[in-house]
Amino acid sequence: MGVEEVARETLGRIRARGTYRRMRVLEGALGPRMRVDGRDVLLFAGSNYLDLAHHPEVVEASVRAARDTGCAAGGSRLINGNLDGHEALEAELAEFLGVPAALAFGTGYMANVGVIPALVGPDDLLISDQLNHASIVDGARLSRAEVRVFPHGDLDALDGILSGAGPSHGRSHRSRRVLVMTDGVYSMDGDVAPVAELAALCCHHGAMFLLDDAHGIGTLGSGGRGSAEHSGCDGGSDVLVGTLGKSLGSFGAFVAGSSALRDLLVNVARSFIFSCALAPPQVEAARAALRVLRAEPWRRQALQENAARLRTRLSAAGVSTRPSTTHIVPVVIGDSAETMRVCEALLDRGFYAQGIRHPSVAEGTARLRITPMATHRPEEIDALADAVVELVEPSHVGVADRDPDRKAEPICRSAESSGPAA
Ligand SMILES: Cc1ncc(COP(=O)(O)O)c(C=O)c1O
Repeated sequence: MGVEEVARETLGRIRARGTYRRMRVLEGALGPRMRVDGRDVLLFAGSNYLDLAHHPEVVEASVRAARDTGCAAGGSRLINGNLDGHEALEAELAEFLGVPAALAFGTGYMANVGVIPALVGPDDLLISDQLNHASIVDGARLSRAEVRVFPHGDLDALDGILSGAGPSHGRSHRSRRVLVMTDGVYSMDGDVAPVAELAALCCHHGAMFLLDDAHGIGTLGSGGRGSAEHSGCDGGSDVLVGTLGKSLGSFGAFVAGSSALRDLLVNVARSFIFSCALAPPQVEAARAALRVLRAEPWRRQALQENAARLRTRLSAAGVSTRPSTTHIVPVVIGDSAETMRVCEALLDRGFYAQGIRHPSVAEGTARLRITPMATHRPEEIDALADAVVELVEPSHVGVADRDPDRKAEPICRSAESSGPAA
């Protein structure tokens, strides 16, 4: 079978399911007002939460790095691509997060598929929240460890698995390693993991704890240090994964933790070793964004105020945004076609909030994923909320809320999203 036939067969299946995707084209400076597919809109999609991607200091730092150093690192970190800027970025991230060390990766996806197999192997046990991101699922698969998935946020279920996971349950003579993994802020639901409780459970059972805070770093916690700080257990994870491409307005990612962890990753994380280092403009943009993020806490506050305003206005009109408590605001519609109809109708009215369908979310829980930014004006938030209320059929909203069994399904969204149809 040739490529054409494979594509026809697979895409035919995707079309029949109603989940065929195409990419929209955005134009203009990244920010709350852009052109999407030729239409001027207010942008309520994406992860440039603090509006730093086009911040003058961030842009200037990036331009200067391109001019002074170049547009590429010129190699992988262990060969010839380890620039002073990489070391400085990592030291600054570590200092910001209050941990001894950090190591940059090409993306958050690469960080997870690098760090997980670095910590566990075929004889070991991975315990993963049901709604963890696809990159955690793929990292778990690469490690070839046994994987147990616990229902989303269910601490009792996790405790049960951990209680039976001691060394005596291992398959080899050596002590079995156990790694518990969770997102900090769930990327499609906007709820925050119970980080303090998870950390305590891991500590009690002697398990390692990986927190992927791609959406929490910079946006949550009084200092912007993310879900752990927000949950009152700053520094509570053994392994903290964060990205530079979301609130930090650049590109790339990092793993933060102990110096031993950094040393281990430099020596064994394949997605670090066998891949080009971050380019200087990305590195310097991230460093500048980190400075702005620290100097301008109003951005974090404005983001959360905007998100709260949106959730409150939608809820007051009977549109559920559960379970969100953050800047990721889902409106679960359920049906994929209806979700995309609402998404298109919003675009016609001048708002872009992305419709999300299976396999990115569980079947029957298609939704609008609305992400306000720190720099949206209150009247813009209100206008979007009014448009959503007008367009969303009350009978379609909150499918997940009305049907508790659907939430309890042991579906691993991210496991499915990594299949061939993703
Ligand atoms: C929880 C989580 N982890 C990792 C990633 C991947 O990060 P990146 O886009 O830098 O690959 C994402 C992306 O959205 C995410 O939501």
